[in-house]
Amino acid sequence: MESNKILGAIILALLLAAAFSKIADMTVHPEFPKELAYTIEIPEGDSLGSQVEEVNIFEVLPEITPMLASANLANGEKLFKKCASCHTYQKGGENKVGPAMWGIVNRAKASVDGFAYSGALADFGGDWSVEELNKFLLKPKKYVPGTKMNFNGLKKDQDRADLIKWLDNLSD
Ligand code: HEC
Repeated sequence: MESNKILGAIILALLLAAAFSKIADMTVHPEFPKELAYTIEIPEGDSLGSQVEEVNIFEVLPEITPMLASANLANGEKLFKKCASCHTYQKGGENKVGPAMWGIVNRAKASVDGFAYSGALADFGGDWSVEELNKFLLKPKKYVPGTKMNFNGLKKDQDRADLIKWLDNLSD
């Protein structure tokens, strides 16, 4: 009898211990964060690209005028070979795919008689000043969206300076 009581007490104690342990588990369960403590934000390639794209290249383009004094005429003449398939340069020269270039510097835009300009260039307005030529020749299709001049542009400042100086000589 006495030993049964002792056994009963031990069993009860074990049951209680098990029950407490179970309750403890349920109440104090540790929480593991679902995400890493430091999330590193990686901007999408796309959004970076469009940010760069938003910078207006024509607003940050340095003026070409200061470069003209030391520009290289001979190189300008050589560079005009890129234009010659579409433009004549001689006095009284014909229009080809593009309008004649004689007297181009400071001439009103889209003003050569008998040439069918695109609406984009016809509506652009202003004269072909040295600075306007600088922007147009950098990226024609960006500066005059919708132009039908199919030319990628001259990336090097020095090249544009050389060519514009040469174009400036195409007048009396
Ligand atoms: C593939 C042919 C082509 C090439 C190459 C080309 N152009 Fe043109 N260019 C045109 C056409 C076409 C126009 C008329 C654009 C329009 O109406 O939108 C034009 C227009 C122009 C104008 C505006 C003329 C005006 O009367 O308003 C200038 C300036 C000009 N080109 C300079 C150049 C120079 C400088 C080069 C060489 C670096 C060159 N182009 C290369 C076809 C060409």
